This record gives sequence, structure tokens and C-alpha cells, in this order.
Amino acid sequence: MLDLTEIPGLDNLHYPKGIIEDAQRLAAEAFGADRTFFLVNGSTCGIQAAIMTLCKPKDKLIIARDCHRSAIAGMMLAGATPVYIKPGFNDVFEIPSVVSVDELEKALKENPDAAGVYITRPNYYGICSDIKEIVELVHSYHKPIIVDEAHGTHLCFSKLLPPSSLEYGADICVQSAHKTLPAFTQGSYLHVRGTRIDVERLKFNLSMLQTTSPSYIIMAFLDIARAVMQKEGENRIRNLLREIDQLCEIAGKGKVLKILSDHDIEGGSIDRTRVVINVKNTGKTGFEIEKLLRNQYNIQVEMSDLNNVVCIVTMADTHEDMKKLGTALERLCVSFKGATCLRDVPLRVPELPERRIELGSVMSRTFTRRKLGDAVQCVSRSMITPYPPGIPVICPGEVISKDAIEYIMEIIEAGGAVNGISEDLEVEVVE
Ligand SMILES: Cc1ncc(COP(=O)(O)O)c(C=O)c1O
Repeated sequence: MLDLTEIPGLDNLHYPKGIIEDAQRLAAEAFGADRTFFLVNGSTCGIQAAIMTLCKPKDKLIIARDCHRSAIAGMMLAGATPVYIKPGFNDVFEIPSVVSVDELEKALKENPDAAGVYITRPNYYGICSDIKEIVELVHSYHKPIIVDEAHGTHLCFSKLLPPSSLEYGADICVQSAHKTLPAFTQGSYLHVRGTRIDVERLKFNLSMLQTTSPSYIIMAFLDIARAVMQKEGENRIRNLLREIDQLCEIAGKGKVLKILSDHDIEGGSIDRTRVVINVKNTGKTGFEIEKLLRNQYNIQVEMSDLNNVVCIVTMADTHEDMKKLGTALERLCVSFKGATCLRDVPLRVPELPERRIELGSVMSRTFTRRKLGDAVQCVSRSMITPYPPGIPVICPGEVISKDAIEYIMEIIEAGGAVNGISEDLEVEVVE
């Protein structure tokens, strides 16, 4: 009898005055927030509501480009104008890295009228920008900051991990509990700290975006996950990190695989529960190694890209699971010892595209379909996003460049999936 609805005694997510209000208060205490809102439509709806709260139509939002597609959708809904900053790039793993404090300061100086700042931290690869410096900087410009912490709900429960952005006063922090805590899919939290956020406006926006039939299963597990983490989180994460250290030692031995570590990141740190394995020296793509792990070892990883395989290790993984992964990685090292590196030409990530139509105007424009190869210089209606990691290469309203097409084709030809491009390689372009 978990799948109940809003009957007397069970409160109302949109106007909480009873058990949901209590559970949200307990969550706020546990995560270090002033207010917490339960989200039953994932972090997606929290991110959208947060952006709609900060930005009125035409307001600028300074946003690191490695954002999830939900942030782009949030800006479309709000009618906001993005001012993108390009995150750093790690040349060894060929993945987005930290948001540079200098770049951010430059954007803040050049856009004194911006409504606020938005960053994603940790990113999908567990890389954490220096949140203390970033929050202090943004607040010194008297602006609020939203942090997409979808991948970092567990961070605040262990001193052995990078801190949560809430610790340093992020104004809004959105977390997907379902990614790293024992919570059901779609269960997320939106936390608020301080006084820069108009909470009434935020509530209004959340009420518009969330279902009127919230799942009590999802909400109950948001409460349960909080309680479990408060009681056992620190110990469980400590034990997990021991297992991960052993795994990294095994995987690193053969010098075939390389695991992302703090030494690889300048100006930030990593969440070690996100095991990023560079497989370039196996002579195979990350996509191929992902398939091999699934087919030969019955191991499903979180995601892969051209060069890497990413495992999310959580409290739900047992010693046996970790041993199984360790054995598989050990065998991979043996099988691929001496293989020729797949590509010695580094991946060239395209420059930020030119924006020709504002995000908020794209929704109402008519469109047609074009073969990707014939779409050079056309304006995209779609968000073109290699998935995972779900970071858009081209956003709605942006010009499709030759470079971007080459980059997208490289990913597709290597076996990756790109959302926004149909199977017969067509793309929607604005007429
Ligand atoms: C960085 C990031 N932000 C936000 C989201 C959206 O989270 P949810 O699936 O909880 O809606 C994702 C989902 O993968 C993500 O990777």
C-alpha cells in the first residue's frame, strides 16, 4: 500500500502542510539547505523551475555550456538569453573539465545585467569545479547561482568527497537522488539557501511543472534515502571508497587502462565514486568496451564515449559486484596489452556555435527536415546532443557549422548515439 494519493493525512506536494512538509524539512536539515522541495519529475523539472525563477523573458543567464538539456529547455521556457562560458577540456580523457573562475569573472564583468549564474557540478564524469571560489565570486557580484548537482546528491554525506555546493552557499542546488542514493527513478531534491531566491515564485513555477498526481512511492523514497544516508552514509561511502581504491589499483596495473584521478584535474577535484576509465590504449572505443563488458562479463556500465567508460559506483554495489568489475578490467588489460591506440588525433570539440534565433522564439517557428550533410549554415530547431553525456553540441536557434557536423559524424560512426538527429541522419532546421 505505497502507491497512494492525496487522501486525508497524506498531505499535498503542491501545498504541503503535513507529512510532506515534515519530510522536506528533514531533508533541508540533512543536506544543509534552508528549504527543500521534493521533485517527482526528476531534476529536469527542478532545473527548469529554477531558471524560470531567476530569469524573466530576455534576462541573461551566465551558464557553463556543459549543461544538461533540461537547462536549455528551462531557458526556452523562461525566454532567457544564455551567455555561455566554455568549460575547460581535459586533453587526456577528452572530456569537459572544470569551469574556470577567470572565465566566469570575465562573463560577470561583461554582463553586469545578468540575472544570475548556472553551473553543472559535478559534471557527468564526476569532475567538480572549485565551488567555494565560484560561489564567493558570484555573490561578490550580488548575483544568485544555481548549481545542477544532479550527480552529487551523496557528496554532503562524506568528508572524503568534494563538498556539496550547499556547503558554500549555492542559492539553488538541484540533485537527482535517484542517481546516487537509494531512491526511485525521478526522485530528486531542489534545495534553496539564503535570501536571493524568490521562494514564492519558485513554488509557483514548480507547481506549474510538476504533475498533480505525484507518486507517493517516489516521495516516500526521497524521505527514506535521506534517512538512510544520515544514518549510514558516512560509513557506507568510506567502505565504498576502499573498494574503489582497490579497483583502481587493479585496473591501473596493466598500464592499458587509465582511471581519472585528482592529478588529472587542475582547479578542481573529482568525485571518486564516479569511476572514469580511459580505454584508448585498448585500441577500441569506449562504446565497444561498454558492449564487451555487457556481453562477456554481464556488467552494465553507466555510459561510454569515444575514449572512456564511466561507472557510477553507489552504496548499492556489493563487494562481489566490485570484484566482478575488477576481474573484468584485469582481463581487459591482459587481452589488449600492446594494442595500438585507437586514434592519435585528439577529438576536436567544435567552437560554440553562432546563435541566430533566441531560444524562446524557436518553439513557435516552422521547420523542415534536412540531411545533416546538407545542413551547413542552417539554423537548428533541435537540440543536438550526444547522449550520454547529454551535453548539447548545437542548441535550438544555433547555426550548424561544418565542424559540428564532422564532430557529430565522428561520434555516430564510432557507435555513439546523438539525440536530435534521426536514424537516416536528418535534422530539423528552422525555415
Ligand atoms: C547533469 C545532469 N543534470 C540534470 C539531469 C536531469 O536529471 P533527471 O533525470 O533527474 O531529470 C541529468 C540527467 O541525466 C544530468 O546528467
